[in-house]
Amino acid sequence: MIYLDNAATSFPKPDTVVRAMSNFLERAGGNPGRSGHRLSIEAGRIVYDAREAVAELFRARDPLRVIFTLNATHALNLALRGVVRSGDRVVTTSMEHNAVMRPLRALERAGVRVIVAPCTRDGSLDLDAMYRAVEPGTRLVVVNHASNVVGTILPIAEIARLAHAAGALILVDAAQTAGVLPIDLAAMEIDLLAFTGHKGLYGPPGTGGLVFGENVDAAIIEPLWRGGTGSRSESEEQPDDLPDKFESGTPNGVGIAGLGAGARFVLERGVDAIRAHEVELTRMLIEGLQNISGVVVHGTRDAEKCTAVVSFTVEDRQVSEIGLWLDEEFGVLCRVGLHCAPAAHRTLGTFPRGTVRFAPGIFTTQDDIRVALDAVRRIVRG
Ligand SMILES: Cc1ncc(COP(=O)(O)O)c(C=O)c1O
Repeated sequence: MIYLDNAATSFPKPDTVVRAMSNFLERAGGNPGRSGHRLSIEAGRIVYDAREAVAELFRARDPLRVIFTLNATHALNLALRGVVRSGDRVVTTSMEHNAVMRPLRALERAGVRVIVAPCTRDGSLDLDAMYRAVEPGTRLVVVNHASNVVGTILPIAEIARLAHAAGALILVDAAQTAGVLPIDLAAMEIDLLAFTGHKGLYGPPGTGGLVFGENVDAAIIEPLWRGGTGSRSESEEQPDDLPDKFESGTPNGVGIAGLGAGARFVLERGVDAIRAHEVELTRMLIEGLQNISGVVVHGTRDAEKCTAVVSFTVEDRQVSEIGLWLDEEFGVLCRVGLHCAPAAHRTLGTFPRGTVRFAPGIFTTQDDIRVALDAVRRIVRG
């Protein structure tokens, strides 16, 4: 089996992740931050250690500004609904995932003005158009760091400067880039960073988070829900302290233990080394696919300008048919269709047919890529 669906969720997970999760269940099964006994204290220590690992990865100085969530979607909803009010103006791009577009469309119905800055056919952002869109008075600019359809990387630091010049905050959807590209919260001037744990951080599903940049006043952000936090139990009001304000209810301790181990795995390997490996595989995929007659590769077709996400179509063939053949005949697992990102496919000109998406990861080898390319070659020849 060759797994090329790491943009959906990474597989396999490092042994350290699996061990951290079973260790949590076997030896630290208390409720973190609640009771005072040793199992609760040990669970709390593991959760805090995960916060530290994530903070280190994104160069956030204060681990308490890392809020754990269920996934990137939850983190994005928390940020969008927490910051944006009726009458506000929000700018986004035409390459966003539905985790951004659907909450924005709902906010639009509640009186928020949503402006979609256009991207070009390879998924790159037209910075001039972005500049024009981010008028003074804009409340929030929300953009993906890299597309989940073609991997195109957006210039976050430049967009952040535009946003701040207009008095807006910037929210970055790093679902495709956490653990994959270097992210430095302060240097890139990111105010709010939404990440997922189960892709490039090699953690389990059901984990993710929102990180607050140093200049963001968490007091202005409303929590999505309220409840028990294990702190200030004498009060019936939600505490203002971080991370408790945004983390009501028993956390996913076992998942967070795995997420922490995944983040440490990335820190040990080094994001630069992971990136170098993935750029090499991406280059092989782009070149190999482009050499197959009838195959069209979408996006920048430049491995340095995208993450390890390569989308293609084959003339006169349905993407679902290709995906099925790849899986059943060749054991190559990938994702086909619209990848929860209809706006991105409209931008790329691949709507409504969608694409076949290959997404290698840290455990993918060059041999795996050769086998996958050979499989596509054989399917195309019929
Ligand atoms: C760009 C992008 N944003 C958001 C998400 C949502 O991530 P999650 O499934 O962890 O909520 C994904 C997942 O596919 C994604 O690729």
